[in-house]
Parts: sequence; C-alpha cells; structure tokens
Amino acid sequence: MAEFALPANSKMTKGQSHSAPASAKNVKTFQIYRWSPDDDANPRVDVFNIDLDACGPMVLDALIKIKSEQDSSLTFRRSCREGICGSCSMNIDGTNTLACLKSIDEVKGDVKIFPLPHMPVVKDLVPDLSNAYRQLTSIEPWLKSDKVAPKGEERRQSPEEREKLDGLWECVLCFSCSTACPSYWWNSDEYLGPAVLLQAYRWVADSRDDHTSERLDALDDSFALYRCHTIMNCAKTCPKGLNPGKAIASIKSELASR
Ligand code: SF4
Ligand code: FES
Repeated sequence: MAEFALPANSKMTKGQSHSAPASAKNVKTFQIYRWSPDDDANPRVDVFNIDLDACGPMVLDALIKIKSEQDSSLTFRRSCREGICGSCSMNIDGTNTLACLKSIDEVKGDVKIFPLPHMPVVKDLVPDLSNAYRQLTSIEPWLKSDKVAPKGEERRQSPEEREKLDGLWECVLCFSCSTACPSYWWNSDEYLGPAVLLQAYRWVADSRDDHTSERLDALDDSFALYRCHTIMNCAKTCPKGLNPGKAIASIKSELASR
C-alpha cells in the first residue's frame, strides 16, 4: 500500500485527550484529525485511548466506539461496514483506505486518522466530494443504448464481453485513488482523476453501450485524461485491489488505435 507524508501543520492546535477506563488492559491510542466550521480550535488532533478488548477488530469499529462512548461530535461517513458503499474512505496510518476494511491490528503504534488528502473538509473526517461527483456526472456513468431492450429479458453479453468489465465493476467510488494522486491534487479542476476515469472506461468497455465513440471523443483532452503520468499511487492504494492506472492506459490505447 502507498504511504503519503502528511505535511506538518504549524497552525495545528493542541487537541483533547480521552482516557480508556482504568480497568482496561489492552489499550490502543487513536490520533484523529478534527476540524469544524463551528469551532475556533481548528485544526487539531484529538487523542482517544480505547480498550481493544471491548472493541470490534476494524478501525471503523473503533471510530463508532469513540463516537458512542467518548465524543459524540466526532464526524465521519459510513454505511455498510463491509467495503461495499465506499463511504468510510479516509487516510489511516498514512494510506488512503476504507476504515471498515482496515484491521486495527495492522497498525503498529498509534492509529493516526486523517480525512482523504487534498480535499476541502466539511467536518472532521468528512471530505467535500462535490467536485468529484460533478466529474463523475460528466462522464455519464450509465448505459446508453440505442436499441430497445428485449421484452422481459436482460441485454445479453457473451462471457468474453462480460469478462472485459472485471476489475471495473467492483469499484465502490471511495475516491481513495484520486486523492492519492499528485496529478489530481494539483489539477483536480480539470483532470478527471483515476476513480472517474476507471468509471469512464467501465462504460467504454461495455459491449451493450452504443456511444463508445462519443465517450472517447469527450475523454480526448490534454487535461481531463492526459494529466495521468502513470505515477500509479492509485493502484497501490485502492482498498478493492483495482488498477485505475490500467483502465486509464486502456482509454489511451483505444484513442490511439482509432
Ligand atoms: S478504483 Fe478503488 S480506490 Fe478508486 S474509487 Fe474505485 S474502489 Fe476506490
Ligand atoms: S462503511 Fe461502506 S465501505 Fe466502509
């Protein structure tokens, strides 16, 4: 997994510290980034000591425990708790990942948790994904077929056609990859980033879609696509084991072979 240095922030204020119960024998320390539009002590890192013997195994379990027992104002996104909804993405121990898939035991020493890097923060661990979702909408991530669907039947694909979608359909849109990409950090106003480009290729590769050429025309742009410099942080960090860099290379190859 990729590791990213988090810049020291000289304006970081001293955070609050929360103790585990005195009887706890298996204590782990969590350092968690805090920022709130309603708070003057911004930003800060709060320290939470929790009893692992009374906690589930994943980092998301610890966050839920902290919110339930120590500080109800701690804010983060989560829903499915099994790597499907993509909402609990954050930077844990220097790597962008899903909190519900990250085992606490994997982290040596204190567990340091920050929001996804280089995104505006709404509150604490919640990044503002408005721009990323605008970019996703721009690639029209839905099937565009000019044929009427067979009545009462699915639109069929051969096993070979269906296989082309493997490694693409599994994406849960957590944006761990885009926010690990230096090119996206500097150009996110125009560069679509690995998550959205993987989604774009998912529809380019779909044999049932009749608008492949139009989709490729829209992607053929020096900023939207070609700001990818194959740094490959995207593939290193993806918590679902996908390779957005390969999908981007496939789009470039499709464009080159036209
Ligand atoms: S490719 Fe991986 S890291 Fe990127 S959005 Fe999809 S699941 Fe998340
Ligand atoms: S809570 Fe759904 S992916 Fe983690």
